[in-house]
Amino acid sequence: MAQKNNDEQFKNVISHAKEYGFVFQSSEIYDGLSAVYDYGQLGAELKNNIKTYWWKAMVQMHENIVGIDSAIFMHPKVWKASGHVDGFNDPMIDNKDSKKRYRADQLLEDKIARYEKDGKTDKAAKLQADMDAALTAENLPQLKVLIEEHEIACPVSGTKNWTEVRQFNLMFSTQFGAMAEGSDEVYLRPETAQGIFVNFLNVQKSGRMKIPFGIAQIGKAFRNEVIARQFIMRMREFEQMEMQFFVRPGEDKKWFEYWKEARLKWHQALGTAPEKYRYHDHVKLAHYANAATDIEFEFPFGFKEVEGIHSRTDFDLTQHQEYSGKKMQYFDNDLNEDGKPFGNYVPYVIETSIGLDRMFLLTMINAFEEQDLSTEDKQDSRTLLRLHPALAPYKVAVFPLTKKDGLPEKAREIMNTLKFDFNCIYEEKDAIGKRYRRQDAIGTPFCITVDHQSLEDHTVTIRHRDSMDQERVAIADLADIVGKAVSWKTLLA
Ligand code: GAP
Repeated sequence: MAQKNNDEQFKNVISHAKEYGFVFQSSEIYDGLSAVYDYGQLGAELKNNIKTYWWKAMVQMHENIVGIDSAIFMHPKVWKASGHVDGFNDPMIDNKDSKKRYRADQLLEDKIARYEKDGKTDKAAKLQADMDAALTAENLPQLKVLIEEHEIACPVSGTKNWTEVRQFNLMFSTQFGAMAEGSDEVYLRPETAQGIFVNFLNVQKSGRMKIPFGIAQIGKAFRNEVIARQFIMRMREFEQMEMQFFVRPGEDKKWFEYWKEARLKWHQALGTAPEKYRYHDHVKLAHYANAATDIEFEFPFGFKEVEGIHSRTDFDLTQHQEYSGKKMQYFDNDLNEDGKPFGNYVPYVIETSIGLDRMFLLTMINAFEEQDLSTEDKQDSRTLLRLHPALAPYKVAVFPLTKKDGLPEKAREIMNTLKFDFNCIYEEKDAIGKRYRRQDAIGTPFCITVDHQSLEDHTVTIRHRDSMDQERVAIADLADIVGKAVSWKTLLA
């Protein structure tokens, strides 16, 4: 099949996601809500499997990491302490003719990408440096100067008639009924991390955790993104999988390197080509960080961040200590080099933060394949989701060859044994070939066909999704064959 260009391939993934019930536009019958998406029947399964992979790798495989599930609503002071009320802003600029709003830095990023594409690398590097310098509150007007200097026009109106650049806070706020007047504004959390920080002592004490230890959680986060695009890449409601690892001051750099490597390994265990991933070490650091790196994946629209690993120092716990008036310290009675206890301190934190929806998109893009199966005599093709079997929504599809002669009953009997351990689907409609193709398209690693021979010798054919090979196996061996392939051990051992 002719090689599709990246745009076309991305569009195909999006329409495939909708056609097979992975992702739908939210409130579609009302023409949708921008940058909000719903996960359909297969999307919910795939998403759960990605969560399980993360949870197992981060929580269950580590004796010193535990998981929590904190509330989305938090005391408003949390966001004052964390810096989100004052600093969680994007620089926005409006085009006066089209009335369209853009992120000023994004317009410049797009220009840099265009310079790079045209081989103007010096220009690209210079603009990148100028933009980095302008991305501070006091230098913000400089962003407009750069937009004008580089003759960036609004993609809609085509004009260069821009407003000044303004800061736009990304947090959604809402009213909280029971609180006293004047202090009743609460925020939908823009990250899950703060729910971990404020529970640091609760978990440490109740779990008798000893440093170094981690607290992980998976949950929704909300950001009123100025521009949201590229499907589920940048959403206004999304999910994060975050882990804060609390360490001794001075050991932060060592743990930062550890998590940087461990997190890339987690990604690569899924079998993705290594060149699809890269680190992007931050040169310009947030005020609270002493090191930060992104794990980037090569999406059809270029290398983009999927996960951040941040060395956040003691910033967050110190801020919460100050704003809450409660001590956020740990007593370390291990002995230091001088034979004395380390004593009381505010721990340093290494954070790993991955967007679940971005991981979902990455997984779909990586798995999506249009295969040409034509022979000299016949044109043929198939769409395949080459998902790792542990992530596949269904592990097994069970088909009776025909709808009669007791074959459906036998197929149901097999399914009724397998379904306790594996998510199974039963199909009796359409010819077998067509049923195989449908399962290929949703990533089911095994199709089991029950035929007349099955009734006599208790065997079935098992068909492997990727190779399309079929073999005859004993019904009694099915659970073992499937179990080995879909086991989390294949990813975690
Ligand atoms: N606690 C740190 C934190 O939130 P971040 O870099 O802002 O750091 C972490 O976000 C991850 O969350 C990103 O790497 C990305 O995968 C995901 N993410 C952030 N904003 C998102 C959005 N609007 N839509 C989807 N995913 C998003």
